[in-house]
Amino acid sequence: MTEILWVVLPYVCLTTFVVGHFWRYRYDKFGWTTRSSQLYETEQLAWASPLFHFGILGVLGGHVIGLLVPASLTSAIGISEGLYHAVAATAGTIAGLAAAAGLALLVRRRRLTPAVFRVTTAMDKAMFLVLGAVIAVGVFNTVGINLLGPGHDYRTDVAVWVRSVLLLGPRADLMAAAPITFQLHAVLAMALLAMWPFTRLVHVFSVPLAYVGRPYIVYRTRDARLGGRRPRRGWEPPGS
Ligand code: HEM
Repeated sequence: MTEILWVVLPYVCLTTFVVGHFWRYRYDKFGWTTRSSQLYETEQLAWASPLFHFGILGVLGGHVIGLLVPASLTSAIGISEGLYHAVAATAGTIAGLAAAAGLALLVRRRRLTPAVFRVTTAMDKAMFLVLGAVIAVGVFNTVGINLLGPGHDYRTDVAVWVRSVLLLGPRADLMAAAPITFQLHAVLAMALLAMWPFTRLVHVFSVPLAYVGRPYIVYRTRDARLGGRRPRRGWEPPGS
C-alpha cells in the first residue's frame, strides 16, 4: 500500500497532468476556457473571485518555498527554524483562509444564482469538491496543527518526499510516517492534479499576462460626412 500511495500514485497523477494537457489542447482547443459566468452575475463574483485567486496564488507560492526549498538552504542564509515556521504559519494561514473563504463564496454564488447553477457541469461539481477538500485539509494542517496545535515539521518528511518524487528517487518511507492529515492532503492534491486537464482549471495555463503590457487598441468613429466614400489611404487632417 505504501508503494502504491507514495510511488505509483504520484507518477500516475503527474503523467496524467502533463499528457492530459497536451491531449486536451489537441482535441478540445476551443473548449480550453475558464467557462466564465461573469455575464450572468457580477456583484458577488467581484469579491469572491479576487479573494479566492489572490489567496490561492499566495498558497501556491508558499508551497513552492516550503516544499521545494530545503531547510538546509534557508538556515544557510540565516533564517532560523523558529523564524521560518512563524512566517510560514502566519502567511499560510492568511492565504489559506482567503482561498477557503473565496471558494466558499464562489460555490454559494454558483448554487444560489439559477443562471450560474444551470451552466455548472458534473465535472465542475467534482472539481469543486476535490479542490474544496484539498484546501480544507491544508488549512487544517496549517491552522489546526502548526499554528494552534502540537505542530509538525513537514520539511523533514513531506517536503523531502516531494523533491524525491521530482528527482525520480521516491522516498515512500517518509510519507508513510507522516501524520494522517498530511497524507490525506497529499492524496487529495494528487487527485486534483489528475483531474486538472479535464476541468476548467486549464485556464491557469492561459492567463492573459501579456494583456497588462499590450498596446492600446485604437477605436475611431467613422465620420458621418464621409458617407459611402471609400476612405483615402493615409492620414487626413482633422475637419477635411
Ligand atoms: C502533492 C502536492 C501537495 C503537497 C505535498 C502539499 C503539502 C502541504 C503542506 C505540508 C501544508 C501545510 C503547511 C503548514 O503546515 O504550514 C499544506 C497546506 C495547504 N495546502 Fe497543500 N500541498 C500540496 C498541494 C496543494 C494543492 C494543489 C492545493 C490547492 C490547490 C493546496 C492547498 C493548500 C492549502 C490551502 C493549505 C493551507 C494554507 C497554507 O499553508 O498554504 N495544496 N500543503
